Amino acid sequence: MTNGGPPKLAANGLSYHYGDLQALRNVTLEVQPNDLLTIMGPTGSGKTTLLRAFNRLNDMLTGTRMTGRLDMDGLDLYGPETDPAEVRRRIGMVFALPIPLPMSIYDNVAYGPRLHGVTRKAELDEVVEKGLRDAILWDEVKDRLVDSALRLSGGQQQRLSIARVLAVEPEVILLDEPTSGLDPISTLRIEELLKQLRERYTIVLVTHNPQQAARVGERVAFFYLGELVETGPSQRVFTRPLDRRTEDYISGRFG
Ligand SMILES: Nc1ncnc2c1ncn2[C@@H]1O[C@H](COP(=O)(O)OP(=O)(O)OP(=O)(O)O)[C@@H](O)[C@H]1O
Ligand SMILES: [Mg+2]
Repeated sequence: MTNGGPPKLAANGLSYHYGDLQALRNVTLEVQPNDLLTIMGPTGSGKTTLLRAFNRLNDMLTGTRMTGRLDMDGLDLYGPETDPAEVRRRIGMVFALPIPLPMSIYDNVAYGPRLHGVTRKAELDEVVEKGLRDAILWDEVKDRLVDSALRLSGGQQQRLSIARVLAVEPEVILLDEPTSGLDPISTLRIEELLKQLRERYTIVLVTHNPQQAARVGERVAFFYLGELVETGPSQRVFTRPLDRRTEDYISGRFG
């Protein structure tokens, strides 16, 4: 299954403290290339902390402590040679609430590529169109690329967030409850989009909704109070959970 290569992402004995509070407990987890892993768990189980650690978004926090190791392609994400900006380009992140920049749809998507040195108009046009097409937003916005992104609907704004991430050509996409603010139709569109993107990217989707995990993920991981309780093919986890806490969670007894 790994073709002998290293996993795309790996956590090895990862623990994370915010001051005295331990948010992750000795988490060991692998995500294979082109896998779509769904991480589910109730509030406070450490899901966001794990994504932020992979993306090196916690670097700026003080009073935190991380032990263990996070790797991408077998390379230490926190190693001395690793550039956090490069990590954030290779590992894109989409958040719960889409926050478009107060500028045009075009400039929102072009923002990342410009930051990474793309300046030629023709080349920018191309990456903007490709990003929007891949996020399945192009047809809805192609005639109004100069309009403010703030005028898009919530579902469109979330697909714009995904287009912005795709425009810098990441290898991994982490999504932290990307549909929590969306209506059911927009939610289904994002879920369909993720299934398509999975052919080209490695995807980790965080959700506190077990139904979403069952619909989208091929593999799921269940977190509870900072612990990775179990992980496996979603078919198996949802029909034959190994741990009582997983069973309670998927049957809606807490969450
Ligand atoms: N910046 C922070 N400072 C202090 N404690 C934090 C911080 N961020 C998260 N925590 C704590 O760490 C624990 C895990 O939080 P985290 O945000 O990772 O959970 P989560 O699984 O994403 O929850 P939710 O489903 O509500 O988003 C919680 O107890 C939370 O209060
Ligand atoms: Mg969270």
